[in-house]
Amino acid sequence: MKNYISYDEVNITEAVNQRLSDCKNPRLVQLVSSLTQHLHDFVREVELTEEEWLYAIQFLTETGHMCTDKRQEFILLSDVLGISMLTVLINNRKPRSATEATVFGPFHVENAPWYKNGDDISHGAKGTPCFVSGKVKGVNGEPIKAVLDIWHSDEDGFYDVQYPDDKVAGRGKLHTDDGGQFHFRTIKPVAYPIPTDGPVGTLLQGVSRHPWRPAHIHFMVVAEGYDTLITHVFEKTDPYLMSDAVFGVRSSLLGDYVRHEAGEKAPDGTIMNEPFYTMNYDMILTKKAEATSAA
Ligand code: BEZ
Ligand code: FE
Repeated sequence: MKNYISYDEVNITEAVNQRLSDCKNPRLVQLVSSLTQHLHDFVREVELTEEEWLYAIQFLTETGHMCTDKRQEFILLSDVLGISMLTVLINNRKPRSATEATVFGPFHVENAPWYKNGDDISHGAKGTPCFVSGKVKGVNGEPIKAVLDIWHSDEDGFYDVQYPDDKVAGRGKLHTDDGGQFHFRTIKPVAYPIPTDGPVGTLLQGVSRHPWRPAHIHFMVVAEGYDTLITHVFEKTDPYLMSDAVFGVRSSLLGDYVRHEAGEKAPDGTIMNEPFYTMNYDMILTKKAEATSAA
């Protein structure tokens, strides 16, 4: 007699997926059935022990407990496993000339303060002054009026939201001028470790991986009729470029942070009494239809 109740190590996968037959949402069926297939294949491949499965469940439970309105440990987990970046790659296929996207990260804040072109957005963040400029344009070179949302770490490698006070520093929004030009003053960010005081830190340590990200400034560029660009400009000499903890580096996103000595004139005309940096980087956007059609 055919035994249809006692599933075996192989047909249990099909049995689980057959229970989706009443689901009316085809995308959900695809997602759940594929996830089931891959998870079951994983369990079979590594011959997962019950102790290991329990450990994994405790790990995910701790990951959830670590999440607050200021800390998203699941995103961090997705980041270090390369899933965030893989999702970015799949969803941001663009023509070669467009600026590439990279991970969003956990330190963006809605409603950052507004500044004007030329302002100092560091707002007290510690670090060496850095004058940033560039132009927002389309892949055919047309200038684009856009809103830039910018955020970065300070010279100690921390974002403002990582400090216990509520001070807002090293972030802001500004409008480009009509020709797409933007320029602002801030401080030069440095390489920093992603937070390691939670389960993700335990995971990295367990597999002998370092938690460092190369120095970068985050940009979100929004313009009507164009795809929103979420990206970073990395410091092109940073020692962690080849081993970014979250796999976010693209060779097209390396910026030249040029050092100048005290006594030189800054782009805003100030004679600086300390060393400073300049960094120029253009943001090239795709029109809403272009990005989806291009390989
Ligand atoms: C960041 O660049 O801010 C970031 C990205 C992923 C994980 C942690 C930090
Ligand atoms: Fe960052």
